[in-house]
Parts: sequence; structure tokens; C-alpha cells
Amino acid sequence: MPRSLSRRSFLGRAAGASVALGATRALAADTVAAKPAPLTKPVSEWPLWDNRDETALLDVLRSGKWGRTSGGARVREFEAAWAQRMKAKYCVATSSGTTALLTAMGALNIGPGDEVIMPPYTFVATFNAITASFALPVFADTDAATFQIDPAKMAEAITPATKLLLPVHIAGSPADLDSIGALAKARGITLLEDACQAPLAEWRGQPVGTVGLGGCFSFQASKNLTSGEGGAILTNDETFANFCYDFHTPGGAKKSVSRGRGANYRLTEFQAALLSAQMTRLEEQAKTRDANAAHLSGLLRQIPGIAPAALPAGSTRSAWHLYMFRYDATKFAGLSRAKFLQALAKEGVAASSGYTALNTTAHVRALADNPHYQRIYGKETMARYVERNQCPVNDRLVEEAVWLSQTKLLMSRDEMARIAGAVASVQKRAGDLART
Ligand SMILES: Cc1ncc(COP(=O)(O)O)c(C=O)c1O
Repeated sequence: MPRSLSRRSFLGRAAGASVALGATRALAADTVAAKPAPLTKPVSEWPLWDNRDETALLDVLRSGKWGRTSGGARVREFEAAWAQRMKAKYCVATSSGTTALLTAMGALNIGPGDEVIMPPYTFVATFNAITASFALPVFADTDAATFQIDPAKMAEAITPATKLLLPVHIAGSPADLDSIGALAKARGITLLEDACQAPLAEWRGQPVGTVGLGGCFSFQASKNLTSGEGGAILTNDETFANFCYDFHTPGGAKKSVSRGRGANYRLTEFQAALLSAQMTRLEEQAKTRDANAAHLSGLLRQIPGIAPAALPAGSTRSAWHLYMFRYDATKFAGLSRAKFLQALAKEGVAASSGYTALNTTAHVRALADNPHYQRIYGKETMARYVERNQCPVNDRLVEEAVWLSQTKLLMSRDEMARIAGAVASVQKRAGDLART
């Protein structure tokens, strides 16, 4: 994948690239095959829909109740269903994952002068939600084995101004919630989970999102549960739920005491109806991803130089929004990752190099020069901002990571052998490929 191709366009294109390959023969073997055959069937398209989704949308259209403020019940119903499925007491649906994060932070009255600790290995939206609240994002480095935020680095990043710990369950795999939860408790800091990629993921059998005070989900177009755009906050805390509700809907200050902040971040009835329809196939899809990811990991681990991201001990289920592994070029005759990805694409396996180092991007660096931030946090603090946020472990990861989209894991078991076979085939030819 060219570096200029965004993660979302990669996820959108991944299916198409493999479909274009055509189909003749598949590997039946469970072991890594030296010579992969092309796909036997098209890669799963995304999103998937049928008459369930069509009927749900038409019902809303015909009802004339298109919003939760015009008497519609669909948003309320979806909130109840999502809370129940994720074993949470309360759910507030929002217009996106970003607005779920904004709502949660607004409900916590996170604002200017507050620091929020987050990982560098995440989508920029996590950062944006913090800066939209005029709080200061502070990066804590990545754990090399799991690709998740490192709790020890979070502890080091805490200052008297830290008001929120915001780990991200990246790729849909839970961050180490035991350690982060213990840290939050010991230091008296609120823990909010960015679970935007992690519907149905579990920590020690408990769905993510309520291990901390709450969790934020995204239903954007590439997500495992989608309505094109959409989001939700889950929590077991009634007061926090009420603040979230009131924050996300103007004039909503009925349940909690207003802090003078809020916005319209409501989900529409159309989106809620679509989400309820999409939920009818969510568990079945998740089971397919679970089985295929386990199979694929078993195969890839046999290939020297390929290291699938480990799940932290305590992670009992990943959402497998992405399948991530580390590529060691030294075990591939020095073949660069870019050339490895090109060779894989020629084998019909579209893969991505994933995130760049968020903490070093021009977008993040620009915060140091933002006059509002200089006024709020002081010129000296902002002058040291980029240096303070160095993450060497993550710097290395972004050079070595490879991603497959969640749609790949919806294919047949044989296709997992074909993917691993393609990797093994590239390794065999790596010396030649490296010279071209
Ligand atoms: C980790 C993470 N956080 C936040 C978001 C923001 O969600 P949305 O795009 O729905 O605003 C995303 C979406 O991709 C995400 O992956």
C-alpha cells in the first residue's frame, strides 16, 4: 500500500484488490504452503447488508420519526440492546466515535489545563477529541509485543495535571486493563477506554468499555459494527451516564446538573435502525474472525521474521478489527517492508503498513505552536511538547508493522492458509525481490 493511502481507504480497498485477482484454486492444507494459489471466492465486501437492513431503514423513513427528538424509539432501543450485549448498565448513542469521546470528556469536564494520557499507536481521532476539549494529549509509548499502550510508560507520564487515562484498544484487542485499572485507582485518575475499534472485545470475560468508568465506540464505515457513521458511550455509572446524555443533546440538562457545556452529538433514528439490523449478524461474524485469527496466527508464527501482535494476558477476546503482525526484514534477505507489501499484493493479499508515528506528525507538532495552547499551558511547556512525547518503541513498530483488514478474517479457513502461503512464498523469493 502506498504510504499516502489512508488507513480507511486501505480498509475500503482491501476487498476490491483481492476480488480483482480472480479465482481458480485454493489451498486445503492447514500448514503454510510454499506456493499459494489464488482466491477461490471474492474477499468479503464491507459493509454487508440484506433485507433486514433495508426494511429497518424503510420503516424509519415511513414513520416520519427520523430523530430521537421527534419521538423515534430506535435510538433508545439500540442503546438498550448495545448496553445489554456489552453487559453495561447505560449506553448513550452519539453521532460518531469522536463525538462519543468528546461527550465523555465533556461529561467529565475535561478542559483547558488538563492532561490526558493516550497511546501514539492510534487513529488521530483520539488526539483530536482531546485537543477539541483544549486538554493536552500526552503520549505514553507502546508495548513492543502487544502493540498496545505500555502501562509502565503511562505511569511515568502522570503529572499533577493528569485528569484522564485514555488507553485505546487498538485493532480491537484490549489494552492491559489490569495494570491500567490499578494505576488509575492508585493515582485517583479516571480511566476512559477508547474502544472505538473494539466491539465485543473482552477483558477477563467482561466486555470492554466498562472496566474503566466508561468506554467509547465508533460505528464508522470501516468498523465491525457500522451505520456509516455513529458512536456510543457505555458505562455502569448512572451519574456519568446522565452527564453524557445531557452533554450530547441541547436542552438535555434534565438528568444532571449542567456545567454549561454541551453540543448536538445525537445519533439519528436511521443509524440506530441500521445498527440494530447489523447487530443481528455481529456475533456470527465475530466467531468467524476469532477462529480465522487463531488459525492465521498459528500459521504465521511458523514463518521466521513474522510475529503476530500478542494479546495481553487477561485479554479473553479481541474484536479483530485489524490483524497486525511485525515484519522483520532481516529474516527476508533485507527485503524492505514496502517491497514486501508490494510482493504480497501481487500474490493477491492486500496489506497495509498501518499507522505512522502520530506523535511526530505535522498535525501533532503544530500543537506546540498553537497560540491558545501556549496561553493555556505556557510557552515553555509547549516548547518542550514534541521532545516530551518521544516514543522510541512505537517509532520502531511503525516501521515494522503490517495490517490485514477485518474483512480478510471473514473469509474461509482455507484463505488463511493462502495468506500465510503468500507470506512464505515472498520469503522464498526475498533475495531476488530485494535486488529488483
Ligand atoms: C481508535 C479510534 N478512536 C477514535 C475513532 C473515531 O471514531 P469516528 O471515526 O467514528 O469519529 C476511531 C475511528 O476510526 C478510532 O479508530
